[in-house]
Amino acid sequence: MELKNESQIVLIVDDNPINLEVLSEALTRAGLQVAVALDGESAIEQVQYHLPALILLDVMMPGIDGFETCRRLKANPLTNEIPIIFMTALSETESKVKGLSVGAVDYITKPFQQEEVLARVRVHLQLNYLNQKLEAQNILLQHFNESLEQKVQERTADLQQAQAQLIQQEKLSALGQLVAGVAHEINNPVNFIYGNFPPAKNYIRDLLDLIDLYQEHHSDPALEIQNKIEEIDLDFLRLDLPKLLNSMQLGSERIQEIVLSLRNFSRLDEAGFKKVDLHEGIENTLLILGHRLKAKSALSRIQITKDYGDLPGVTCLAGQLNQVFMNLLANAIDALEEALSEKRGPASPTIHICTSLIEENRIQIQITDNGSGIPAKVQQKVFDPFFTTKPIGKGTGLGLSISYQIIVEKHHGTIECHSMLGQGTKFVIEIPIEQVDLRSCTVLNKELLKI
Ligand SMILES: Nc1ncnc2c1ncn2[C@@H]1O[C@H](COP(=O)(O)OP(=O)(O)OP(=O)(O)O)[C@@H](O)[C@H]1O
Ligand SMILES: [Mg+2]
Repeated sequence: MELKNESQIVLIVDDNPINLEVLSEALTRAGLQVAVALDGESAIEQVQYHLPALILLDVMMPGIDGFETCRRLKANPLTNEIPIIFMTALSETESKVKGLSVGAVDYITKPFQQEEVLARVRVHLQLNYLNQKLEAQNILLQHFNESLEQKVQERTADLQQAQAQLIQQEKLSALGQLVAGVAHEINNPVNFIYGNFPPAKNYIRDLLDLIDLYQEHHSDPALEIQNKIEEIDLDFLRLDLPKLLNSMQLGSERIQEIVLSLRNFSRLDEAGFKKVDLHEGIENTLLILGHRLKAKSALSRIQITKDYGDLPGVTCLAGQLNQVFMNLLANAIDALEEALSEKRGPASPTIHICTSLIEENRIQIQITDNGSGIPAKVQQKVFDPFFTTKPIGKGTGLGLSISYQIIVEKHHGTIECHSMLGQGTKFVIEIPIEQVDLRSCTVLNKELLKI
């Protein structure tokens, strides 16, 4: 059998110098390197400095005997892999068994048959070599498996992220288009109404003036006219008509504002990063969610309380930040509705919005609800794509994962969730007022818009 690594050392441990000499010679002649030790303790010490590939160990020695030497070598992780062959006298069956039981791989009997010693040494060196090779391959294989597994996991996460982004983008662009379309359609008729109020008011004032003139010059009108004046309650009509017109005008102004908000909401990202007033974004979002805040019964109407700080303009992707506000507010409304529907809701369901400048260059937005709260176990997962506790068809589980992306990746900010089950939930967002590398962020944004 060819030895693959002839430079491996065989350590012979024996207190008998003649045995040492005979064995050393035989092994050296066979092309092996040999080291020797005269007792167990010095063998253990020697092994620390230079690991042998194999040890030939005598049993009976002064100081610690061969068994104890073997035990100590096996107890040390550095040396426990070295194969040990015991050298025992022919008659000592008990020693052979004991030797094997403390970890030896084989034994040879004295007096030595040189051929047998050589053959056994070679077999064990070869076995050891193959073992080591196998182990190295196993480690390699394990690394390979681990990195493969990691790659698969990374890929899956990437894919999920991409899929989540696609779905959300689709949702957003569909919502954006719908909102923009509706706003556009309403815009024209509302403009007619709004634009016609001033002339309509003038005409009506003229007509009323004319009636006044008639009454002045014909103080005693025909009976038919007197009856009509009574029937239509002319005095009340002339008082009420201008009020009525004013409130109609106010109503149409309000519709115009809503349409403007809708158009802003759906269009804001066309220009990439822009400096905006975040409060305006929050207000627009609240306006769009307005119908959900006015619940069926007055008791469960959700209150919005605000504590707006004095914020400077924030350079951001305003439309996307609006999406974040939308997601957080919609979740808060869901949580309040859930709590209310189970009759364990708060007496006054409230969403509190608080904004502040926390550092020179950083703002904070807190959105707090006193809804159902989130169990600790669930809290770790709320930002995962597709994680939802809502029934099928109600939630896609994307709102928070997309919000996380928008805040953390696009705006280099942070978003945190603090919640107590049954008490409520607070989301805390922090973003810098200015983005450091606007150029790369704009590129990112454009790429996203292409999807
Ligand atoms: N304010 C909150 N109160 C209680 N639970 C919340 C709140 N916000 C989020 N959650 C929990 O986190 C989960 C994930 O929220 P996320 O907005 O990502 O998805 P979703 O609301 O279920 O679906 P959608 O994609 O329609 O937003 C929710 O299903 C809910 O269990
Ligand atoms: Mg949601």
